[in-house]
Amino acid sequence: MTERRKRDFVSIPDFSTEELYETLDLAADLKSGREAGRPLAGKTLAMIFTKSSTRTRVSFEAGMFQLGGHALFLSSRDIQLGRGEPIRDTARVLSRYVDGIMIRTFAQEDVEQLAQFGSIPVINGLTDLLHPCQIMADVMTIRENFGSDLSGVKVAWIGDGNNMANSWLNAAHRLGFELRLAFPEGFEPDEEILQRARSSTTVVTTSDPREAALGADVITTDVWASMGQEEEADARARAFTGYMVDDAIMDAGTERAIFLHCLPAHRGEEVSEEVFEGSRSRVFDQAENRLHVQKAIMLRLMAG
Ligand code: CP
Ligand code: NVA
Repeated sequence: MTERRKRDFVSIPDFSTEELYETLDLAADLKSGREAGRPLAGKTLAMIFTKSSTRTRVSFEAGMFQLGGHALFLSSRDIQLGRGEPIRDTARVLSRYVDGIMIRTFAQEDVEQLAQFGSIPVINGLTDLLHPCQIMADVMTIRENFGSDLSGVKVAWIGDGNNMANSWLNAAHRLGFELRLAFPEGFEPDEEILQRARSSTTVVTTSDPREAALGADVITTDVWASMGQEEEADARARAFTGYMVDDAIMDAGTERAIFLHCLPAHRGEEVSEEVFEGSRSRVFDQAENRLHVQKAIMLRLMAG
């Protein structure tokens, strides 16, 4: 008998295009209540956090409970990892107790090391480089609005070339939609991720937010200072002057354009109050979809 190699979800390209669509379809079934039962009964997910979280923590914990399993919240303040125990040791120890690990931390390399040394699936709950679970929820929200075929959809990213922008590039790479990114000089996304996306789909880059939004069906942004960049907040606010997604930017999109934001949002900075609370905003559907899509990811990785 050949042993099944465990799978991880540390970045969107870990899943093939077909696997991504299957996961998104399963998430839609879970949301509609078509998939029930307790497929993860008796299983435990360890959730390691070295950064704050509302959505990721609660949606993974509630999702695991809904699937019949159990989730363990492990703050780096409390576990030995925070006192310097190596990731590779943590990975091997946790692999003896639990059935999967979700981690939110700074370095992508730490998540990859956890996946390399652990014998159980590892899910990336955000790093400085990537936020793959969030983008899966965002893509699910796009499908709910525009249908399941993403090929004709244009997505505009307005803001920092951060973990969200990089994961949008990875999603465009696998799913083939057009991505239009506006960022100021010095705030570019990861070059390697950008080039890979360019090899498989149309990626437009500009420093003009309006140009990026022109003809877009989805206009999305994120905070200008991510977790860990708090001290740069003032300098970043200056660098991102003119990057607020307001009604004028939304009007540059198509008639059907929707607004997405992973949250937490800073009204009056990267998004205006009017857009955030307006009829084109889908931010709370998007937040809800974290729950459904992560349940689908956990099922794919941890069931059976
Ligand atoms: N969007 C998101 O990941 O939110 P949290 O930081 O609250 O988990
Ligand atoms: N880019 C943000 C996303 C928060 C969900 C951060 O990393 O803080």
